[in-house]
Amino acid sequence: MCGIVGYIGFRKADSVIISSLKRLEYRGYDSWGVAVKEENELKLIKKVGAIGDVEAYDVGNGRIGIGHTRWATHGKPSERNAHPHTDCSGKIAIVHNGIISNFQTLREELESRGHVFKSETDTEVIAHLIEENYNGDLLNAVMKALEKVRGSYAIVALHAEKEELVAARYKSPLVLGVGDEEYIVASDVPAILDYTKRVVYLEDGDVLRVYDSGYEIFHDGKAIDRKIEIIPWSIEDAEKGGYEHFMLKEIHETPKVIEDTLSEYLDDEITIDASFAFGISEIVFVACGTSYHACLIGKYLIEKFVDIPVKVEYASEFIYHQPPTGRTLVISITQSGETADTLEAMRIAKKKGAKVLTITNVLGSTATRIADFVLYTRAGPEISVAATKSFIAQLIVLYLIALKLSHIPRTEKMELLKEIKLLPEVVKRILDDKEEIERVSKLLAKYENLMYIGRGIGYPIALEGALKMKEISYIHAEGYPAGELKHGPFALLGEKTPVVASLVRDHTYEIMLNNIKEVKARDSIVVAVADEDDEEVSKYVDFVIRVPKTNPIFSAITHSVALQLLAYYTAKERGCEIDKPRNLAKSVTVE
Ligand code: F6R
Repeated sequence: MCGIVGYIGFRKADSVIISSLKRLEYRGYDSWGVAVKEENELKLIKKVGAIGDVEAYDVGNGRIGIGHTRWATHGKPSERNAHPHTDCSGKIAIVHNGIISNFQTLREELESRGHVFKSETDTEVIAHLIEENYNGDLLNAVMKALEKVRGSYAIVALHAEKEELVAARYKSPLVLGVGDEEYIVASDVPAILDYTKRVVYLEDGDVLRVYDSGYEIFHDGKAIDRKIEIIPWSIEDAEKGGYEHFMLKEIHETPKVIEDTLSEYLDDEITIDASFAFGISEIVFVACGTSYHACLIGKYLIEKFVDIPVKVEYASEFIYHQPPTGRTLVISITQSGETADTLEAMRIAKKKGAKVLTITNVLGSTATRIADFVLYTRAGPEISVAATKSFIAQLIVLYLIALKLSHIPRTEKMELLKEIKLLPEVVKRILDDKEEIERVSKLLAKYENLMYIGRGIGYPIALEGALKMKEISYIHAEGYPAGELKHGPFALLGEKTPVVASLVRDHTYEIMLNNIKEVKARDSIVVAVADEDDEEVSKYVDFVIRVPKTNPIFSAITHSVALQLLAYYTAKERGCEIDKPRNLAKSVTVE
């Protein structure tokens, strides 16, 4: 949801900024822009299109600059609306991620005082507000300007006559990379990794001033210290490593991600500190998108193993339902730790007195600051917009939580833990044998509608399979509980709508076969995802994607990896932009 970068140091700023923006491209890719300070002038470039398509661009020889890659909110993608935005004098430039909710009022006020606007964006008001407050002190002008704005922002501001950058954040992420005689401010860590692993996570309300020999952070007008943290990721983690797409690379990283996440929380026993569960009377999961599907699987697991009621809410709908109480444990799941809806749900839950646990992939992310308890997935940086390995890592943490809280006999628990440890090998086998998945994808690529069905744990698997398919292949794909088809969706079935059925070998198996027969009777092609030794299913369906046999609860892993690959190869067959699906961005930092 827009990526911003600011650089000050000894290198040519434009090349640092462009290479860093490329690493933030997953946050938005409809247009981009760079401003570099040279002598006492700003050199500015703005382009429509994806920064990833740009080899290099000469924006002058300056050593200080800012840049932006955009996911449009206010004003359609165009050069005019691309950042950086400047004030009337052209001396002040800013880049912004977030939304200024009172921009219309501010714009009218500024225009009435003679300011001339060049874009339709909300951001430009900040440049003009800084201009109004500027009297030689950029830091002070930014602080004053921000007093007027409402909404969310991470900004970096540059003045043509100042050897410094001023940055600030409120409800949008911002990190400072601390290098050797160079600094880089960015929306996310991958933008920084080429230069340093030492970062400072800024907090809401922080204002940062960076100059060539140091930096200062202010909060509520007072200088404060923030800890430097060392990023455990390497730059290779954020590169394609020979794969055609990040998505494929990231799916292939799944075995390692499972191992890493397990080694964090499992020795002979589960090492998760479960104090978050003391005295609770219910669990409410909140999340968005794929992470929401992980929550649905979490509900299934916790209800299977633990005697406690569990609800699952879309984070954006959370406030419209019964509020949590002091005995509620709210569990938020968020890969990025920055999804605005999820963060807002967490804040509300805390205000109501609930305890909040977050499961996230990003060290130091905003979610970790709001939550009372944090469990990390060890998925490494996920660049592809479509979440894959991070979803599987979330499931691993959920298995461990459910088993940690469970009162099942120890022998049964130990059996399941033994099986969890085998999952990296199990997933490797799926990755090594993709022939049938590729064959089926060639067929599905010809259709415009797909239905995914499942029951029990198979239902959220179907939802996630459908989401992956629709977001990267643009095929309309719906996930449904298999039992619901006859209550409406049957009307859509027929030769033009293949059905993908997630067939889990548990108490839902027989009835799923019946549902599949009903679907076949409506002439839909049926693709089943089923156990490798399931002979029965072949009698009723057109294609079987076989996955290694596991305890049925781990079908959430095996089936999901197979369905991620199915979506990937279908999108590839259709020639889609897999890592950067249209209209989407990875980190959704607006509500
Ligand atoms: C889909 C996808 C999104 C995210 C959602 C939440 O493949 O990636 O649906 O799952 O935007 O993101 P996080 O988990 O970062 O809160």
